[in-house]
Amino acid sequence: MKHIIAPSVLSADFGNLERDIKMLNASECAWLHLDIMDGVFVPNISFGFPVVERIAKVSTKPLDVHLMIVNPDNYIKRFAELGVTYLTVHLEACTHLDRTIAAIHECGMKAGVAVNPHTNVCLLEDVLDKIDLALIMSVNPGFGGQKFIPQAVNKVRKLRKMIEDCGSRCLIEIDGGIGEGNVAMLAASGVDAFVAGSSVFGSADPLKTISILANA
Ligand code: DX5
Ligand code: ZN
Repeated sequence: MKHIIAPSVLSADFGNLERDIKMLNASECAWLHLDIMDGVFVPNISFGFPVVERIAKVSTKPLDVHLMIVNPDNYIKRFAELGVTYLTVHLEACTHLDRTIAAIHECGMKAGVAVNPHTNVCLLEDVLDKIDLALIMSVNPGFGGQKFIPQAVNKVRKLRKMIEDCGSRCLIEIDGGIGEGNVAMLAASGVDAFVAGSSVFGSADPLKTISILANA
């Protein structure tokens, strides 16, 4: 297993959620990616605490929660209580990002910061030494199954250099339009962790697809 693969549960079958989580438990994926959407920060609503709680009970893998919500500070403690490992907030949703990062750490979780396609990764410079994960959105957030935005590759390269220059141990994660055709190229550009929704759950053999992505 060379790469961290984080299948996005957004593309799972919610009528058979337990079955799908158990499939992921048996797979080569490293994390489970949970997309929380509030219908305000993004034009879609996904799922909330009862579903996260159920997933946390069934999953044997660390939970990587991606908050696409306004006012994420209001919910940090509740995600910590559910046993979440990585809690990622959007830079565009946080007025006091430094305070939010500290609050995530105080609750015992690893802190991630996500940037939308239009947001320059330079804006992460002053928090890079404090965060555990930087999430580059390679689609506009809100929906699974969208096309990869190529400019994300330049952002990855730039961010990788910034991380090396400051000696941070922050991981780079990429989210949106990830599949068998772009993981190897993105890994070579500096990505550590890959979110994959439709390419995993739309596959005839998700276990095999996860293995191919993990070893690409
Ligand atoms: C989009 C979400 C993604 C989404 C990825 O807003 O953040 O995690 O589920 O889906 P795919 O892999 O289908 O692009
Ligand atoms: Zn996501």
